[in-house]
Amino acid sequence: MKLKKITIAIDGHSSTGKSTMAKTLAKRIGYAYVDTGAMYRAVTLFALRNKLIKGDKVDEKALKEHLKHGDIVITFRPTKDGKSVTVLNGRNVERYIRSMRVSNVVSVIAAIGFVRKEMVRQQQAMGKDKGLVMDGRDIGTVVFPDAEMKVFATASAQVRAQRRFDELRSKGDTTTTFDEVLANVTERDRIDSTRKESPLRQAEDAVVLDNSNLTFEQQDEWLYQLYLERAKC
Ligand code: DC
Repeated sequence: MKLKKITIAIDGHSSTGKSTMAKTLAKRIGYAYVDTGAMYRAVTLFALRNKLIKGDKVDEKALKEHLKHGDIVITFRPTKDGKSVTVLNGRNVERYIRSMRVSNVVSVIAAIGFVRKEMVRQQQAMGKDKGLVMDGRDIGTVVFPDAEMKVFATASAQVRAQRRFDELRSKGDTTTTFDEVLANVTERDRIDSTRKESPLRQAEDAVVLDNSNLTFEQQDEWLYQLYLERAKC
């Protein structure tokens, strides 16, 4: 089968395993993978390190200047074991951007219009030659509205909370309760879908992937078949 190079946009709710599915698909079909959440996290880390965030107040004027002057350069570097790490101004920051310190304020940074504008510009530049899988919240709606393949990943709040709860337990957290995790998942859904700038919404031409009751294998195969259908000449 002759296949053309396409753009694949994967959006959806938090804790639906978007990045795992996007990474797996990209590897299988030899495409680049871009984690746009990591980009918002890297800007957040820069802001924290430069003391531009106090509580949930951001020094927007200073942050805007830094972005304008190109002080925040975000790239992705492949590792020897076939993974990819996030690089901020030449330094691997993968570990730091996943910390609770960053997670707690990233939604504030991601809600700022000029930050989104700059991230979208960089994401569009990364995808100009197609052949990539990008995951986030606004990829099919704002970044690549013409993407040939758009997926909107979802699962019930109960299922997503259970996944996060199991993950926390496996990392040694024995205090957070399931109800707390469920409340957090529900609250993040609310913030993501009601914010003013690029709220999370399903693109009209996106295909919904509800993975509440799917195994990883079933999900990966579903995505691969959709890719073949969309990429065939
Ligand atoms: O997917 P994640 O948890 O790493 O995303 C981090 C934050 O960035 C989260 O608050 C959602 C936001 N985000 C966004 O607003 N737009 C994107 N394209 C990707 C992430």
